[in-house]
Amino acid sequence: MIRLESLTKTYASPQGMVTAVDRVSLEVREGETCVLLGPSGCGKTTTLRMINRLVAPTSGKVFLAGRDTEAADPVELRRGIGYVIQQIGLFPNMTVAENIGVVPRLLGWPETRRRERAEELLTLLALPPAQFASRYPNELSGGQAQRVGVARALAVDPPVLLMDEPFAALDPVNRETIQDEFQRMQRKLRKTILFVSHDIDEAVKMADRIAIFHSGRLVQFAAPDEMLTHPAGAFVAGLSAATAR
Ligand SMILES: Nc1ncnc2c1ncn2[C@@H]1O[C@H](COP(=O)(O)OP(=O)(O)O)[C@@H](O)[C@H]1O
Ligand SMILES: [Mg+2]
Repeated sequence: MIRLESLTKTYASPQGMVTAVDRVSLEVREGETCVLLGPSGCGKTTTLRMINRLVAPTSGKVFLAGRDTEAADPVELRRGIGYVIQQIGLFPNMTVAENIGVVPRLLGWPETRRRERAEELLTLLALPPAQFASRYPNELSGGQAQRVGVARALAVDPPVLLMDEPFAALDPVNRETIQDEFQRMQRKLRKTILFVSHDIDEAVKMADRIAIFHSGRLVQFAAPDEMLTHPAGAFVAGLSAATAR
């Protein structure tokens, strides 16, 4: 469903060229949850943003459902890709329902359809619409805001979901709960998900396969069990040793 071919991004900096993402190749199957795991600065966000073309690759290719995304209209491309950004990014002056309805509105959905869709998604994410649809973001807890961010990304039912450290800002108890809910939802919806995390326990719990990044390079791409039992090198072994499982 998602295929990266030698994907590379370099930036010019005062210290010279920085290679944020270095010849990354991987494939995410339809309905699979893949976690990009690695420390801060290893190129995870840049990789996600090259998939929906918020960042233009320096070289290499991205295919979505077999289509080279370079040829696609970026606006149309992004409609097929839900994106949950690192800082949630809800619009503070819009209600929860209006936030969820942003993309449907751009697509010209009438008010009643937008409202119904928002209510359906809020219910799916365990936020009773009667209680939450008309609230503003500053009236939500961190976990509730995060769920609204996920609902917004799902609004027009895109087949692909990109999520950038969606649960990182939550306390451990809330994080467990929302991870469990998200897994239940994914069993129902079967989206193709690329999920960024720097937390090995979260990766092991959520991923069908884990793509481990180190300094812009993909150092291992394997199922969690395989990664834990057969780490590819010292860096992965170090990460694996840090997990509680
Ligand atoms: N717009 C940019 N200009 C220059 N350097 C950037 C830019 N975006 C990211 N980088 C650099 O690229 C590297 C990878 O960043 P990023 O993809 O955000 O990492 P991660 O999400 O894994 O923390 C970092 O060294 C970062 O400083
Ligand atoms: Mg990041």
